[in-house]
Amino acid sequence: MVDLSTTYMGLPLKHPVVASASPLSESVDGIKRLEDAGAAAIVMFSLFEEQLQHESEAFDHLTTSGTESFAESLTYFPMVEDYHVGPDRYLDLIRRATEACDIPVIASLNGITDRGWTDIARQMQEAGAKGIELNVYYIPADLGMTGREVEDRYVDVLTAVKRSVTVPVAMKLSPFFSAMGDMARRLDTAGADALVLFNRFYQPDFDLEKLEVKSNLNLSASTEMRLPLLWIAVLHGRIRPSLAATTGVHAAEDVVKYLMAGADAVMSTSALLKHGPGFVATLVDGVTAWMERRGYSGVQQMKGSMSQANVADPTAFERANYIKMLESYKSDYVL
Ligand SMILES: Cc1cc2nc3c(=O)[nH]c(=O)nc-3n(C[C@H](O)[C@H](O)[C@H](O)COP(=O)(O)O)c2cc1C
Repeated sequence: MVDLSTTYMGLPLKHPVVASASPLSESVDGIKRLEDAGAAAIVMFSLFEEQLQHESEAFDHLTTSGTESFAESLTYFPMVEDYHVGPDRYLDLIRRATEACDIPVIASLNGITDRGWTDIARQMQEAGAKGIELNVYYIPADLGMTGREVEDRYVDVLTAVKRSVTVPVAMKLSPFFSAMGDMARRLDTAGADALVLFNRFYQPDFDLEKLEVKSNLNLSASTEMRLPLLWIAVLHGRIRPSLAATTGVHAAEDVVKYLMAGADAVMSTSALLKHGPGFVATLVDGVTAWMERRGYSGVQQMKGSMSQANVADPTAFERANYIKMLESYKSDYVL
């Protein structure tokens, strides 16, 4: 019998498969269905800063201006309306969900400033949330903004939330930092209990018939897991916060890969939306079968076994491998 237990952001979990933020957690029934399907923990859908400050100028700007400075972020903000849950309903949902479930329920806050709204984190804790996941969904379309200023936003939001709660706080990160390692260290110093790699940004497409920007949402594919896989492998064992993988988990092998890279928890949204909450069990059973077949005794033994620090050739994650890979590419069309 393999031991699937893991610890994520200080929370003991029976196995590493966690349901990430999605509309599946919009009701107590939905959350309960995820628990019954076997999820080890649930991250609730996000409460947006804009929902808390919907009267504010910032919200007006984001939702109505349509200027190019926020064009990209507009593709995501329709979700605010889709979810349409104010803070009171959100807190009530946490209360009812934590009463109904034995597994940890993690609340999710999505914002880009540290001004005022972060107090809601304390109310989330009081309502029963076992942890808070912060999602700074920020696209720095202001050309005058420096990389350091973008990084500071993440650190400031984290610092403000850490000040108001005692439950663990995770930070869901964008992959677009020029120095991911340094950013991870800054968040470590600011007290992050976990880093969630990576936030999946919803890039716009063009409708060439209507000449409009399309803002439809595509579910992920397994191939998208390579970027988080790379950074989890690089960061494993080198920073204090736990690491969670989000993006591209569509099969048990994807979970295994993330664990081997060094993830403490592996999250799924697209696959659960596609196949239903029952797919959690397919993932967990598949991981168990894989481990038994390969003679692993537990997740702990497997975790990070293929991280950059542990593989025989650490340059496999770096530039040298890029050159090797290009040279080895074979195509029928290359003479
Ligand atoms: C329909 C949908 C709704 C989502 N809602 C949220 C959300 O409210 N907050 C959040 O942080 N992430 C949200 N996400 C992102 C997911 O939690 C997840 O990080 C992302 O989809 C990548 O994982 P996946 O490849 O398993 O889908 C949403 C994703 C989808 C597809």
